Amino acid sequence: MNWLVAEQLRRNAARRDAWSDYAAHRAETTARIVAAARSQNDQLCVLGAGNGDDLDLPAITCAYGQSHLVDIDADALARGLDRQPASQRQNVRLHGGIDLTGCWQLLANRPRGTALSDAEIEQILERSTSGQRMELPGRFDVVASTCVISQVIDSVVLALGPTHPRLLEVVLALRTNHLRLMAGRLVPGGRAVLVTDFVSSDTLPSLRSEHEPDWAALLAQITAQGNFFHGLNPRNLLAVFKTDPALAARAIDARLTGLWRWRQARRVYAVAAIEFDAIACG
Ligand SMILES: C[S@@+](CC[C@H](N)C(=O)[O-])C[C@H]1O[C@@H](n2cnc3c(N)ncnc32)[C@H](O)[C@@H]1O
Repeated sequence: MNWLVAEQLRRNAARRDAWSDYAAHRAETTARIVAAARSQNDQLCVLGAGNGDDLDLPAITCAYGQSHLVDIDADALARGLDRQPASQRQNVRLHGGIDLTGCWQLLANRPRGTALSDAEIEQILERSTSGQRMELPGRFDVVASTCVISQVIDSVVLALGPTHPRLLEVVLALRTNHLRLMAGRLVPGGRAVLVTDFVSSDTLPSLRSEHEPDWAALLAQITAQGNFFHGLNPRNLLAVFKTDPALAARAIDARLTGLWRWRQARRVYAVAAIEFDAIACG
């Protein structure tokens, strides 16, 4: 097993008892996924479902005909499903062991902390672009991505190191490819729900305040200060839908549909929900 996969498995196992920490975040995430269903026969795909702590599966399985949960960590998916009553499990399919980037094998090709060469970076960029051929059944009415894009980006930071001269280039490529993957897996007219953490109280201590943030001011502040996870400022994410030709050709109406705080034991995260639709004649 490559060390990036081992690291995700370790993180998921460490969070296995975090269900109650996720309550408010789970409610926000689930509400958007449930609201995106247009018929009870709809097919849902959740990317990065992991332990399932941010998914109220009974509510989701009521809203959808079938739910496909995807993650690199098959054990985490099984743990999440095991918590559900047997009656809620029958319309859920698990797809473990799937690397959503298509390039983790290359990213983790060398021991952790070893610099990657330009030739290796080129291969990673090439693989991540062509790595959209996930072993999943067809396309879906709704594709949700639940706080996996920040982990994908973190994996680039872990593999390249925080000072690698090509770090941002690779981060932005994997970010765009994740959005393309979501768009590419939608049926015409389908809907995508991207949920992502974008800054934490480690660098923005005001997130710990008792009071609800003034979100417009917070977005302006993090933008001015460059204080957000690489590539994940919600404003910049929305801009990608205009600047990337592949996304512009498939996705319409990208919009910010929510901003909330996700309180964990050691830090508080700011989280954004961005939704978009696949062009109906696609
Ligand atoms: C922070 S967790 C998200 C929370 C998760 N939805 C839950 O409720 O437990 C990120 C998830 O993304 C998965 N992940 C990270 N990188 C991945 C990749 N390249 N391919 C597939 N899954 C990945 C991790 O295994 C983890 O389960």
